[in-house]
Amino acid sequence: DGPSVAIVGATGAVGEEFLRVITARDFPYSNLRLLASKRSAGKRIAFEDRDYTVQDLAAPGAFDGIDIALFSAGGSVSRAYAPAAVASGAVVVDNSSAYRMDPEVPLVIPEVNPEAMADVRLGKGAIVASPNCSTIICLMAVTPLHRQAKVSRMVVSTYQAASGAGAAAMKELELQTREVLEGKAPTCNIFSQQYAFNIFSHNAPILENGYNEEEMKMVKETRKIWNDKDVRVTATCIRVPTMRAHAESINLQFEKPLDEDTAREILRAAPGVTISDDRASNRFPTPLEVSNKDEVSVGRIRQDLSQDDNRGLEIFVCGDQIRKGAALNAVQIAEMLLK
Ligand code: A2P
Repeated sequence: DGPSVAIVGATGAVGEEFLRVITARDFPYSNLRLLASKRSAGKRIAFEDRDYTVQDLAAPGAFDGIDIALFSAGGSVSRAYAPAAVASGAVVVDNSSAYRMDPEVPLVIPEVNPEAMADVRLGKGAIVASPNCSTIICLMAVTPLHRQAKVSRMVVSTYQAASGAGAAAMKELELQTREVLEGKAPTCNIFSQQYAFNIFSHNAPILENGYNEEEMKMVKETRKIWNDKDVRVTATCIRVPTMRAHAESINLQFEKPLDEDTAREILRAAPGVTISDDRASNRFPTPLEVSNKDEVSVGRIRQDLSQDDNRGLEIFVCGDQIRKGAALNAVQIAEMLLK
């Protein structure tokens, strides 16, 4: 037994990670259906002890008999197909931004706000949204501190990996690196400018207020997840040429005092968080060190000397964007449905 699971976007970077996470956690599925675009239909994927054929998401009956549908094929695919999955009785766990800010849809990080999905039941169609990867990685580290001292303002600067833009962006980074080293002009299909040996402002569209969409996701999603519409959040999101893990520099201002030793103790006890904070040898979290790991790593934990009375902290956080930033978080949500 176990639920019948569909993976939408099974050929993508997150889709492939869903499969790895399902194996790693021994997720008890009875049946698996791999869905992607017509381009991939017919492709074979070997998984565990079986051979699967990728099916066209748009074919009729794609969600027949499915209990849980893990979506990671972008916002427009979720908008187009999640309603059909829900109508056929599936619980959709959606990785895209399509439904995150819908007041009817819980936006969940299982370590942070599991209570938000208390009303969602297997067997009754519903959508649960998984937050933006940068938001997840940030709030995994910050929420335990917030519970202790209440964050009044948070300033985030991100250093985001290629994987957030999908498997094709990861390939382009590799290709460009090789091209640049060989003195050739870099191929720019995914991003409009050179990515290898460069950094640039996140490729999400710029909004009227001068922020890009990625930054505003961090602002709005944090308020929703914490159920705190007053918390002040600002972010600057930057793409850097790392492969699959994001880094974030986070400045926190608290309502109550919080000293760095207490913060370190709180983080040491926090689920899904590790500390990498070795001042003596100048070793702190890196994207490479957290790649393919479940935990978010926190370091550079120090009092913000520009704030009075221990009301401020600086931290530096790294987390695997494909794993906890996407696939793992979604599978954890699915696990909560089985409880
Ligand atoms: P496909 O490989 O058939 O294009 P990534 O985030 O790594 O770019 O992956 C995106 C995933 O979403 C892939 O599995 C891709 O399938 C899938 N996808 C993209 N567009 C569609 C679509 N219109 N219909 C179904 N699946 C889609």
